[in-house]
Amino acid sequence: MILLTGGTGYIASHTAVALAQAGWRCVLLDNLANSPASTVQALTRITGSAPVWVQGDVRDGTLLDDLLARYPIQAVVHAASLKAVGEGGAQPSLYYDSNVSGTLSLLQAMQRAGLRRLVFSSSSTVYGNPSQTCLDENAPLAPLSPEARTKVMVEQILTDVAASHPDWRITSLRCFNPVGAHPSGLLGEAPRGQTLNLLTVMAQAAARQRPPLSLFGNDYPTPDGTGVRDYIHVMDLGQGHLAALRQMLSPEVDGSSGQGAVPRADGPAAASAAAAWPQRYQVLNLGRGQGVSVLQLLQAFEQHTGQRVPYQVAPRRLGDAACWFADTRRAQHALGWQAELGLAEMCTGAWRWQQRSHR
Ligand code: WQD
Repeated sequence: MILLTGGTGYIASHTAVALAQAGWRCVLLDNLANSPASTVQALTRITGSAPVWVQGDVRDGTLLDDLLARYPIQAVVHAASLKAVGEGGAQPSLYYDSNVSGTLSLLQAMQRAGLRRLVFSSSSTVYGNPSQTCLDENAPLAPLSPEARTKVMVEQILTDVAASHPDWRITSLRCFNPVGAHPSGLLGEAPRGQTLNLLTVMAQAAARQRPPLSLFGNDYPTPDGTGVRDYIHVMDLGQGHLAALRQMLSPEVDGSSGQGAVPRADGPAAASAAAAWPQRYQVLNLGRGQGVSVLQLLQAFEQHTGQRVPYQVAPRRLGDAACWFADTRRAQHALGWQAELGLAEMCTGAWRWQQRSHR
């Protein structure tokens, strides 16, 4: 079984779909601070099997001890994290407590249980406002917000924890811009507050659920003057987390006898697993490796949904970079994974989710 902290959240819930469809049982832990409990029913409808659902907080060590004793957890996907850049600036202590103290609580509970397999859902925000455009994992870390600084701190903690005991296997996945929704329309981004991410804002503007999109700057040094990012479908991110677990729990890497009901990748992915794991800790970019501008995404949205997105050009947003996207070669080599879904699936999924979630 796999424990997913932040399990009813955007990335973790889509990871739970990928895990269930690959034959894994999941335990979802979430305090519902930024996602609805209805996600559990959606997962049950999509996968045909009900995940174990525990409402609680990773900062509750007693709850974690009970959960790790009750279920045969083989690894943890740690995605419990507050992630609104603006809110983090307004409430930094809340973000450091939730994101950093929460991680420390989880690590201590895992050590008490002798469990040392962890996939951390990190973020491309650790790169800040980079000078280069194509970012590999060695690019400088220059976080610009408390939210991003919590991600960098957690990665540093994980580096030290991995070095502290030979049994640790830890992977940090730096997710670039997650967008889209499960094709059923039953699952998508459902934050408590108002979302600010581009594709969701576009869908809301197209549905006339909000004023026209403010296009933050069309005078960047990019082909059409608008900001360029690496948008990746959240279902691809789910597959990326699954691939990281398969590598981590493969006999070549896990070092175990390979017993247990863990479905494994065979062939080249398993073979590359051992070759690509030289130490106990690794960091991998999860992106599509392609830069897409705001206007390109807007045109793709209108083309694939048939909806018009009203917008107006506005001044640049403070802290925004002109252009960056992921160098994904390390993840491809280590995990045998690469993103497969394109703009059409991103846009149609976001539109279908907007229509259903608004109803
Ligand atoms: C994308 C582009 C904006 C909104 C965020 C967060 C972080 C991380 C990645 C996961 C930029 C433009 C946006 C709008 C616009 N996620 N834009 N009008 O800022 O790259 O990063 O997602 O961990 O949560 O940092 O994403 O969607 O906000 O912006 O013109 O109303 O769209 O200027 O060029 P960003 P975004």
